[in-house]
Amino acid sequence: MRDYLTLLEEKSKPQDIEIIPLNFTDSEVSPVMGKDTLNLHYEKLAKGYAKRYNDKEGDRDFNYAGVFLHNLWFTQFREVRNNNKPNGPMMGFINKHFGSYDSFKDEFAIEAMKIQGSGWAYLAYDGKIKTIKNHEVRDDILLLVDWWEHAFILDYGSDKKKYLSELWKIINWNVINTRWGKSL
Ligand SMILES: [Fe+2]
Repeated sequence: MRDYLTLLEEKSKPQDIEIIPLNFTDSEVSPVMGKDTLNLHYEKLAKGYAKRYNDKEGDRDFNYAGVFLHNLWFTQFREVRNNNKPNGPMMGFINKHFGSYDSFKDEFAIEAMKIQGSGWAYLAYDGKIKTIKNHEVRDDILLLVDWWEHAFILDYGSDKKKYLSELWKIINWNVINTRWGKSL
């Protein structure tokens, strides 16, 4: 992730960027993330940011940040596990900063629900829950949650709390551990 972030300087922004291929199938993450959501969100919206950036259409920084965030978002999932929990270094990290995994999820929900309109919530390297309005590149994202309506509306209607509580079932904590390891 840090290597990826070296691309952030305006002068070193790449000519072309792409959305990273999915490493899970739609049936693996369904029903937490339904097929229609995946199609809309990944195939149309996320790839749309990359296309507009590459075609030099619209706001360059906004589209770049959209690709950056969606590449973090779509690479952190695995098949549905009803008892999914952090493992490895992240287990200790979560316990250290939040006391327990349940407390972490509660605090994450509280912070995410404060977002007005579209944005993102994330667990940062310093153990805090932070938010982003619309799109913005940040260099301290460990675990990221898309808080734009397109991420949940088809599967959960307006029930954002339900969306978040279900989302924990598909977080690939191995990926989060790897991100954390790269920061050390
Ligand atoms: Fe999104």
